[in-house]
Amino acid sequence: MLNIKACIFDLDGVIVDTAGYHFKAWRRLANELGTDFTKEDNEKLKGVSRRGSLDLILKWGNLTIPEEEKTALTDRKNGWYVEQINKMTAEEILPGVERFLASLKERGIKIGLGSASRNAPNIIKRVGLEEYFDSMIDGGMVSKGKPDPETFLKGAAALGVLPANTIVFEDAAKGVTAAIDGGMLAVGVGKEEVLGHAHFVVPGFENLEYDVLLEILQERMLPIQN
Ligand code: BG6
Ligand code: MG
Repeated sequence: MLNIKACIFDLDGVIVDTAGYHFKAWRRLANELGTDFTKEDNEKLKGVSRRGSLDLILKWGNLTIPEEEKTALTDRKNGWYVEQINKMTAEEILPGVERFLASLKERGIKIGLGSASRNAPNIIKRVGLEEYFDSMIDGGMVSKGKPDPETFLKGAAALGVLPANTIVFEDAAKGVTAAIDGGMLAVGVGKEEVLGHAHFVVPGFENLEYDVLLEILQERMLPIQN
């Protein structure tokens, strides 16, 4: 039987949709450097660390920048990004998310955040969801980003639960891999084509009932546990 004690949520693309803000700020930087990238390329930056994103954009543009100059670039991008997120309000919480978090609280399930973003705690505060979270692990607290499971393992440890008693909600393929490799149940939030390796994929939280999700996961885990 599944014995779920905690749920850990990725932030960007699961709780709020900040991909557009990241895209705008990275594109501004890319343009200053004399290059550009598309919205489709931006999809590949989802779940990737700040520095990792810069390196990909430089690679796409065939640009070489000395290592010691990279921090100034990521700082500039982050300045523009922070200007955007400082204007965020509760209206930007994705549909159904707050209701779902409230239903977990009612059931006594612990709630964690496991994000690659160093801005994650600020965003959670801005949109007014802080009270729901028992722990927040952000990009500044880990040495290995997703797909390494460190973010979620630290999250489970901070909540005082075992990975096997934890469900992770993720919109990035790398994040789903991180959850699975960490020994947790992975629920993909988005498209089956991208997240097919998750234990289950949902389009979002709008019509998602925790009890129904648990039944589905239970059925899917049975063949594995027997
Ligand atoms: C992830 C986003 O959540 O956080 C990535 O999906 C982003 O696009 C990464 O690069 C790091 O974010 P930040 O806010 O620390 O630059
Ligand atoms: Mg994400």
